[in-house]
Amino acid sequence: MSTAPLLEVQGLTKRYGGVTANRDVAFRVAPGELVGVIGPNGAGKSTLFDLLTGFQRPNAGTVALDGQDITGLRPDIVSRRGVGRTFQKLKPFAGLTVLENVMVGAFQKTADPREARDRARAALSSVGLGGKEDAHARVLSNGQRKRLELARALSTRPRLLLLDEVTGGVDQGSIPGLVELVRGVHAQGMALLVIEHNMRVIMDISQRIVALHLGEVIGDGPPEAVARDARVIEAYLGRAYTRGAPESPGA
Ligand SMILES: Nc1ncnc2c1ncn2[C@@H]1O[C@H](COP(=O)(O)OP(=O)(O)OP(=O)(O)O)[C@@H](O)[C@H]1O
Ligand SMILES: [Mg+2]
Repeated sequence: MSTAPLLEVQGLTKRYGGVTANRDVAFRVAPGELVGVIGPNGAGKSTLFDLLTGFQRPNAGTVALDGQDITGLRPDIVSRRGVGRTFQKLKPFAGLTVLENVMVGAFQKTADPREARDRARAALSSVGLGGKEDAHARVLSNGQRKRLELARALSTRPRLLLLDEVTGGVDQGSIPGLVELVRGVHAQGMALLVIEHNMRVIMDISQRIVALHLGEVIGDGPPEAVARDARVIEAYLGRAYTRGAPESPGA
């Protein structure tokens, strides 16, 4: 890759007791690039996001954003440096309105309540929840909660956005709209790292794919190449995908 990387991960290792959730993980994300992250359940995908965003500290390795070391910084500081994320397990503040939920994210970048409200409104409208601002988060469908989570992350105005299972747990009918939102965010020039079990979706939207298995990177390259990689097929894709009938392994 000739351009300087936006994100550079080297030797990232995380152990939980006897489990090595990430082992010597290394890869790069270029500015504006959309990189997919795949791998079976327990491969270490969400752990990787926790390490990149300061929710967990690695046992070894480094994370650099724009050439600056951000390894082990607190989540709020990583967020201010420009890395946003969504969570696999959605936990909206049920007692707050949709707008208030997103303002929590916007306050990462501004202390001014009016500014936070404006940013939150803009983020909600960009994900199609413009009419739901005053609703309580608890009344939202799963697909709408994914949109809320995306708006919360977008309101921090990240340069790099990490999405943990955008289409996971939503009904089939909600998937195309969510995929279009991700495409739209990417088209604005944002770099994205996207964990996704739906192979049709991730093969379609990614410029590159990093495959994890047992905490290690077992594949990194263009989607077509990773989909043909023997180790990736063995560890994750099985034969269904190579036969041209993409399922959603591990979902
Ligand atoms: N906070 C934690 N404490 C202890 N073990 C953990 C913790 N988080 C993750 N693990 C373990 O680390 C391994 C990787 O988990 P992780 O959640 O990163 O996998 P994943 O690839 O995101 O899986 P999935 O596709 O099911 O979401 C698993 O064995 C998991 O049990
Ligand atoms: Mg996960």
